[in-house]
Amino acid sequence: MTAPQRILVMGSGGREHALAWSLSRDPGVAEVIVAPGNPGMKDVATIRPAAASDDRMAAIAQELEVDLVVVGPEGPLVAGVADHLARRGIPVFGPGRDAARLEGSKAYCRDVAQAAGVPMAVGAAFEDDEEGAIDLSRRLGAPVVIKADGLAGGKGVTVCATLTEAEAAIRACRPRFGLAARRVVVERALSGREASVIAITDGASLLALPAARDHKRLGDDDTGPNTGGMGVYSPLPDLPDGQAAALMERFHRPILGELARRGIRYHGALYAGLMLTDDGPYLLECNVRFGDPETQALLPRLSTPLAPLLLGASNGRLARVAAAAGLAEGRIPGEGATVGVVLAAAGYPLEPRLGDPILGGDSPWAVSALTFWSGVRRSQGALVTNGGRVATIVGRGASLEEAAAAAYRASDAITFPGRQLRRDIGRVGSFAAGAGRP
Ligand SMILES: Nc1ncnc2c1ncn2[C@@H]1O[C@H](COP(=O)(O)OP(=O)(O)O)[C@@H](O)[C@H]1O
Ligand SMILES: [Mg+2]
Repeated sequence: MTAPQRILVMGSGGREHALAWSLSRDPGVAEVIVAPGNPGMKDVATIRPAAASDDRMAAIAQELEVDLVVVGPEGPLVAGVADHLARRGIPVFGPGRDAARLEGSKAYCRDVAQAAGVPMAVGAAFEDDEEGAIDLSRRLGAPVVIKADGLAGGKGVTVCATLTEAEAAIRACRPRFGLAARRVVVERALSGREASVIAITDGASLLALPAARDHKRLGDDDTGPNTGGMGVYSPLPDLPDGQAAALMERFHRPILGELARRGIRYHGALYAGLMLTDDGPYLLECNVRFGDPETQALLPRLSTPLAPLLLGASNGRLARVAAAAGLAEGRIPGEGATVGVVLAAAGYPLEPRLGDPILGGDSPWAVSALTFWSGVRRSQGALVTNGGRVATIVGRGASLEEAAAAAYRASDAITFPGRQLRRDIGRVGSFAAGAGRP
């Protein structure tokens, strides 16, 4: 199965850098274009400005004669960019608007999961009904979880230790998140370790990637505020790669089946955020794209070329591509271990400071570590911070310990004023102590 020759990756973060890096290594791929990308990606991709609208972006993809568009972030998918591309006959990796509701509405995800028989925490969604939501939180008892229904950039969920906090979180939803909180989900709090299991699918066939785990809190030992993710590692000692496919059969496949019953075809990456509890795994949420920072740690572990798989997922030929690539058992195998350390700007996550000059950023990649840039721009020839998360430094090794050592060696070489990073990413001590507990 041949690879697509020209690929357009939409997005600008570390996930998109990792995708562009992985795709550019495929000898069958002639050019990777990233829009809008960031200047840190220039060695692996051609950088183009983003278009003013999704329809214009689709028109540009057509003018560029790309063979595949890979959509990185959830925003454009939920807005329907994949439908615009499909209408112009451009193969796109990423679901259409109907299917992207799985991430665009947590209430919709709950509804689909329930109909599919997929386990989720007891809970319910309330539309314009704060009193109903507060009432359910009282019946469930603390701790309880309050979620804005719609996209909230990873900030819409509050795990509340008390009912007073829960009531405040419910009342704060609408003012904080506006329309994204027209509905509010109230859920029983589960406890356990989290895992991200991502599958690639064309709607019929599925392939599981190895599981990964991100570290959401800003500080070491899972202290401080929640962030978009301060680090990630794979494989998980408590969820070996070989088990991801079994979880995919219990979560992803029934969800796709339920969508199909509703007349909706899903294709792209389907990400299940799982809580591994003493009663077994539960679904916390679905995302309709690759995770950030999970992708940065996962792609360097794969030796199977990604481009033909993504094209196969987009055009319904995933089973054939997988067979041609020699993949069995519904999974893409991983090799070695990776640990990704996020370098964040001063003031992140509340008010990231922009414009700090980055030193050491232009040094070549070490064999044992990769730098995936996100919030950066060029100013007078030098890289400066331009977002909360600045880069993910991914160390590789035979074990997590080796990978962590490589990641920290490389991280320490990249500095900027106010740089924040956790020191415990992927350390055996950190997951033994229960990283990922709410
Ligand atoms: N039912 C739950 N019980 C315990 N923790 C939860 C629950 N739902 C969500 N969380 C915590 O909140 C985080 C964010 O919730 P999630 O549903 O993944 O929303 P998002 O990623 O859109 O912010 C999860 O990663 C988990 O740590
Ligand atoms: Mg999540």
